[in-house]
Amino acid sequence: METVIARTQSEIDTNEAVREAANALQSGDVVALPTETVYGLAADALNPAAVEKIFEAKERPHFDPLIVHVHHKDAVRDVAEIPEEVKKTVTQLIETFWPGPLTLVLPRKPMIPDLVTAGLSTVAVRQCDHPVFHRIIRNFNGPIAAPSANLFGQMSPTSAQAVMDQLDGRIPLIVDGGACSRGLESTIIKVEPGEKKPLITVLRPGPITEIDLKKFGKVVFADRNEAVEDSNPEAPGMLENHYAPGKDLRLLSDPADFIPEDGKRYALLSYRGQPKDGFLDLHEWDHVSILSPGSGRVAEAGTRFFHVLREIDGMNEIDEIISEPMPDRGVGKAILDKLRKAQVKT
Ligand code: TXA
Ligand code: MG
Repeated sequence: METVIARTQSEIDTNEAVREAANALQSGDVVALPTETVYGLAADALNPAAVEKIFEAKERPHFDPLIVHVHHKDAVRDVAEIPEEVKKTVTQLIETFWPGPLTLVLPRKPMIPDLVTAGLSTVAVRQCDHPVFHRIIRNFNGPIAAPSANLFGQMSPTSAQAVMDQLDGRIPLIVDGGACSRGLESTIIKVEPGEKKPLITVLRPGPITEIDLKKFGKVVFADRNEAVEDSNPEAPGMLENHYAPGKDLRLLSDPADFIPEDGKRYALLSYRGQPKDGFLDLHEWDHVSILSPGSGRVAEAGTRFFHVLREIDGMNEIDEIISEPMPDRGVGKAILDKLRKAQVKT
């Protein structure tokens, strides 16, 4: 199969790309689409044969459920139930963060195919905030299932070229909507009634942070160990050995932990490129990439994270990637989560 990239630089190109993508979705095909987080591999969420093509193209195991994207806020009720006891909080969260990088896990409506939810009684839903995606889903006029457009276990793509690098020949169409502004997958939460306040459990950390969420309830992070069961995990994005680059990667907390091996060529993944952080001058690095040059901003580091990691991964002259610690706050939590999983090898 030939994989075509549809560009969206001009209005004419965009109109054409939107039409092509919506047609592909209507006829039960898969298509890679830009979102504000990472590129998604989209199909008609209500068509199991189309959804099956997502699993095939990604080589994704069927126990890993997909996120359903809705075309407007009210459409959440077409795919999910909002339980009465958390209705106020869920509605506030949707009003505040949609369209945007927040995914809610809610009881599913029966019309959602089992394939989408991996047989779970819940469905993960979000409304994405990207102008091209928005036009395509409006045109299609129904829910779209779309996981990240990477091969299972590999890094999420944040550009059309990154999708091409992984899925060339496996899918018919990629809509190029430019580089993703957030660069990390959406925050996934579930909401339950709590003692004093509603309980918001973060199943996957992402661009919407604890600080954003705590106005709406008590925020807890899902126990990582609890979520790594092999089948039907609550958020299999939490599986170990995920988001893995091809090269070995080590996340260090202390510069003293770095003992270079003779003849091995190392790249440093630095948070802000500051010698005072103790890593920059530690070694004669064969390459240094800085996620947020200067003062260091976690959101900027998040936006650049997958892009930079992919760049280093493509360097023949590097054997291993050494990562500085990232701040364990805000979007930094999501970056740390990816780095921890990237260093696990099976
Ligand atoms: O930003 C994003 O969320 C991107 C863009 C394309 O929207 N999508 C994305 O999808 O990251 P994916 O499939 O790569 O990650 C979805 C995660 C998986 O870890 C999956 O296990 C979890 O959501 N998930 C899906 N349905 C769930 C459910 N009912 N309960 C708990 N976790 C669920
Ligand atoms: Mg993914």
